[in-house]
Amino acid sequence: MERPPVQIAVIGAGAIGQRHARLCASHPESTLRAIVDPAPAAIALADELDVPVFADIESMIAAIRPEAVIVATPTPLHESICVAAAEAGLHLLVEKPISADIPSARRIIDVAEANGVSLLVGHHRRHNPIVAAAREIIGGGELGRLLAVNMLWAVRKPDAYFTVPWRTQPGAGPVLTNLIHDIDLLRHLCGEISAVTAHVGNMGRGLAIEDTTAVLIRFETGALATVTASDAAPSPWSWDANSGENPAIRMSRANSTRFLGTQAALEFPDLRIWRHATGEEPSWNATSISEERLVTPADAYHSQLTHFCAVVRDGAAPVCSGEDGLRTLAATSAILLSASENRTIVPEQG
Ligand SMILES: NC(=O)c1ccc[n+]([C@@H]2O[C@H](COP(=O)([O-])OP(=O)(O)OC[C@H]3O[C@@H](n4cnc5c(N)ncnc54)[C@H](O)[C@@H]3O)[C@@H](O)[C@H]2O)c1
Repeated sequence: MERPPVQIAVIGAGAIGQRHARLCASHPESTLRAIVDPAPAAIALADELDVPVFADIESMIAAIRPEAVIVATPTPLHESICVAAAEAGLHLLVEKPISADIPSARRIIDVAEANGVSLLVGHHRRHNPIVAAAREIIGGGELGRLLAVNMLWAVRKPDAYFTVPWRTQPGAGPVLTNLIHDIDLLRHLCGEISAVTAHVGNMGRGLAIEDTTAVLIRFETGALATVTASDAAPSPWSWDANSGENPAIRMSRANSTRFLGTQAALEFPDLRIWRHATGEEPSWNATSISEERLVTPADAYHSQLTHFCAVVRDGAAPVCSGEDGLRTLAATSAILLSASENRTIVPEQG
């Protein structure tokens, strides 16, 4: 029997909210019921998608009462908006980071639980088939024991990006805005992070927020990672440039990450596995052969919405739960804390 689509309102129709709104309007399992955004620009989007627009969540809830909301407001507003939605019994997909800090993230999780609503955090990369394949390769032991990861995320954001005031304020730098995706990816692929040591710099742009970061990570398994990130350095090396997920970032096809195991190595996101030729003694002198694992591409935001509908309709377990979002936020916040206190940080577990 065909099921009725999940009725969703999108809260915050900026850069990513517009994408969510268009997806909700076109996805076969959802219906876009409303947009909430006080900015005049939201009116044109609402007209285009033929839905009402509201300036605040309270008036939307009073008039429409959807089943679920996608929260895509500036991060500092996630807490108050998620709490208002959860208290009205609406299921939540909240953009990453789940919230601006650990206590407010914990409050979102607790209020969602107390009101019996589902909570999915928008670490959309987990829904990309490339990531699912990498998880199978690493988790299935094809690389042997994972020893280390070398990851790079370097782009040059346009100056116009910083004309939006909240994006220049502490907490909105590339660590919590962008690198958090890579940290979530590392947790998803390699397990829990047990220690973080980092330095940050702002030489690229000279703002109060960081633009460049170097991080050392230890995982609970004992594996290690080095991560370098900058949003002031033009380069072909980032997940986004290779995966094509972000239309704002020109594609490059250059790999940004290498996973190193005791038996083989994996280039990512291309999923190229390097190992010694069969029968040869493992040695630095042995012949290396490589093989690219092919996956059928899919839009991770679309797949995330399909999953959210299953979470709402069938009670499916969220692929990225509130606790997951909180742990990723804790590990990412540990980068900024380590840099400011010049010491190794054990991320909070919430
Ligand atoms: N998953 C991803 O790929 C991804 C990409 C970009 C941003 N994000 C996250 O999404 C969130 C939004 O980022 P953005 O870059 O789209 O921001 P943005 O500034 O482009 O858009 C935010 C929108 O929220 C609106 N808004 C402000 N106050 C509001 C309120 N009280 N109620 C409703 N709407 C309100 C603003 O008018 C604006 O249109 C952030 O948490 C960010 O980290 C996620």
